[in-house]
Amino acid sequence: MKIDILTLFPDMFTNFLTESIIKRAIEKEKVKILIHNIRDYTLDPHNRVDDYPFGGGDGMVLMPEPIFRAVEAVRDDDSYVILMTPQGKKYNQKEAYSLSHKKHIIIICGHYEGFDERIRSIVDSEISIGDYILTGGELAAMVVTDSITRLIDGVIAEGSHQNDSFNDNLLDYPVYTKPQDFRGMKVPDVLLSGHHENINKWRHEKQVERTLARRPDLLEKR
Ligand code: ADE
Repeated sequence: MKIDILTLFPDMFTNFLTESIIKRAIEKEKVKILIHNIRDYTLDPHNRVDDYPFGGGDGMVLMPEPIFRAVEAVRDDDSYVILMTPQGKKYNQKEAYSLSHKKHIIIICGHYEGFDERIRSIVDSEISIGDYILTGGELAAMVVTDSITRLIDGVIAEGSHQNDSFNDNLLDYPVYTKPQDFRGMKVPDVLLSGHHENINKWRHEKQVERTLARRPDLLEKR
């Protein structure tokens, strides 16, 4: 899997790529993540990447030229192009699974007040990570990249994501570790019983209980 990220703020990705699971996935060559500065693709003599909107209005608009040229420089026959925008389809775990099977993903981070509408003509999908406005698509691109990378075979132990919240539209069950009694709060007896059937039953009940209390909308999807 290869992910090319097009951004005006490449430095924002430095820590993201050099810490924890993402760092290890890159080292193990499970994923290749390349960051490209959109500004490197402008033909403007002053390196401008944005301009005023036709028709007037506040804010600057990202021009199509540098984005088109950047995408053309990195795309091949297997590329899937994603635009990060609050106007996109709301992202979820199902989409993360589907993207984790792609060979090559190109993510365009929108910025400033907006981007020229013609950029939409070269993207396969538009993704929003939630109903709120970020200053740019960079954090959203990291969210999507992170959620995809952990699902790639061999990045984390298989069982670790089989029980994830949202698989089967159920939230995760509660988990405990040592000590058995922490400031009077005890680990439920069933988890110490060694009886696997009862443990699985308890966990499933807790998943349903928790989903019903916190995210009844998920149960309706089941
Ligand atoms: N850019 C700004 N806000 C965003 C959001 N909520 N999702 C994706 N990209 C964005």
